[in-house]
This record gives sequence, C-alpha cells and structure tokens, in this order.
Amino acid sequence: MKPPVVLYHKKGSFLVEKFEGELHTHHGIIKLDELKNKNYGDTILTHLGVKYTILPFKSPDFFKYFKRAPTPIMPKDIGAIIVYTGLSPDSFIFDAGTGSGVMAAYLAYYNKYGEVVTVENREEFAKVARKNFEMAGLKNIHQIIGDAVEIADCFKKEFDLAVIDMKNDVEFVRKAKNILKTGAYLAVYNPYIEAARAVYEEMQKNGFKEIEAFEMIKLDLDIKRVGTRISTTVWHTGYIVIGRKP
Ligand SMILES: C[S@@+](CC[C@H](N)C(=O)[O-])C[C@H]1O[C@@H](n2cnc3c(N)ncnc32)[C@H](O)[C@@H]1O
Repeated sequence: MKPPVVLYHKKGSFLVEKFEGELHTHHGIIKLDELKNKNYGDTILTHLGVKYTILPFKSPDFFKYFKRAPTPIMPKDIGAIIVYTGLSPDSFIFDAGTGSGVMAAYLAYYNKYGEVVTVENREEFAKVARKNFEMAGLKNIHQIIGDAVEIADCFKKEFDLAVIDMKNDVEFVRKAKNILKTGAYLAVYNPYIEAARAVYEEMQKNGFKEIEAFEMIKLDLDIKRVGTRISTTVWHTGYIVIGRKP
C-alpha cells in the first residue's frame, strides 16, 4: 500500500499523502508511520482509540480532496461532459481555464492513452492544479500558463474535444473551430444563463452542429429512520452547451 490513502470515518475523512508525522483529527492523533504496516480495509486508531478505516484513493476523491483555488466544476457536470462528448481513452483534449484542475484531472484520468492540454492565465492557480495532478499521479496533462484564447492560435485542427470553463468563452468559441478535428466536440460550462445563450448563438454562427444546451440537476436524498426526502439545498451549478465541429 502506497500513499495517497483515505482515512475514512463517518463523521469526516482525511487524505494522507505521506506515511510520516502525525494527523490531528477531532477524534485524536494518528501516527501516520503506522500506515506502513497496514493494508486497505484495515483500521488505524487515534490516541483516543477511535477507529479510521484505510481506503484506496480513487478518482471520485479528486473532487473531494484536491486543493481548491477557483471554484471547480462539479462531478455531475463533468460526467455529463464526458458522456455527451463521447470521450474515448485516446483523445487529445484542450481544457481552457485550469482553475483547481478538477476538470482537467478527470479528462486525463478517463483518457489513459491520450493527452490533455490545460491553459490557465493565473500562475498561482496553475501551481495549485500542478500539485493536485501530482498527488493524483496523472502524467498525461500538459499545463500552459497564458491566455487560452491566444494559446489556441498555436494549434491547428488537432483536438478531439475542447472544454471551456472561463470568462471569454464566447471569444473562445470563434477560435475553437480552428483547433478541433472534424466531428470533434466543444463543451462550454458557465454558471450564467445569458452567457450560455451567447455561447449557443456563437456556436450557431460558427457552423457548429448538434448544438444542445442544458443543466444537470442532481437531487440528493436524505435517508432517515422517519422517512426519505430531498436534501439538496443548492440545485443550480451551471449550464452546459455542447456542439460539434462540422
Ligand atoms: C471557474 S475556474 C475553472 C475551474 C476548473 N474547470 C476546475 O474544474 O477546477 C476558471 C479559471 O479560468 C481562468 N481564466 C479566466 N480567463 C482565462 C483566460 N482567458 N485564459 C486562461 N485562463 C483563464 C481563471 O483564472 C480561473 O482559474
């Protein structure tokens, strides 16, 4: 067993990146070098005798444990983008607006034999994302620091997919048609409905086909002894517009 691992407790879990030092939890202290002699599924005790279960670090943990810089895109929206754009594991993908690197990480993870180029204009965010990619062991991500709209000019008709989650998305749509292969997809995520409409109309103007705009709604259930009901308080995250390069 190698780090990272997740120490699970129903009242709060932790990601452990090194098997050394101490982890201070609200249930007491865990000596992390004890993890060296353990396996997944074993438990480890705090100095107060509270049990944590050792679980492997898996891709759903990217979203839970990545360090956050700007707000990342949510897993439900990432899932929709992956499925509606028919991502295959040998794709060449452009990700505009790296942010915390959550979107780029999932694009890379499900793209085992391909590569992701991710562009961020703020160096401090790119650094946070870099650490997240390293922690997740993702090696097929190329980071570029710069303006994604300008960087797009350096590529010619190569990408199978471009995903945009940043301001200037309308401007990027105009560029996208020059960097996507025929039949490739462009997916744009934006929290505002006016912006989604502007992106939709820009895709139409630029000849994109099979354009669709939608929002994914995930309603979590609160399952209690007395009954079951919807617990989600915030439903809205963002709108997704997807189109296909003719
Ligand atoms: C909402 S965040 C992206 C979150 C990211 N998709 C994730 O899942 O972690 C938008 C990011 O785009 C960056 N950004 C804004 N305009 C940009 C541009 N023209 N070129 C590159 N990055 C840009 C911002 O600095 C910010 O980090």
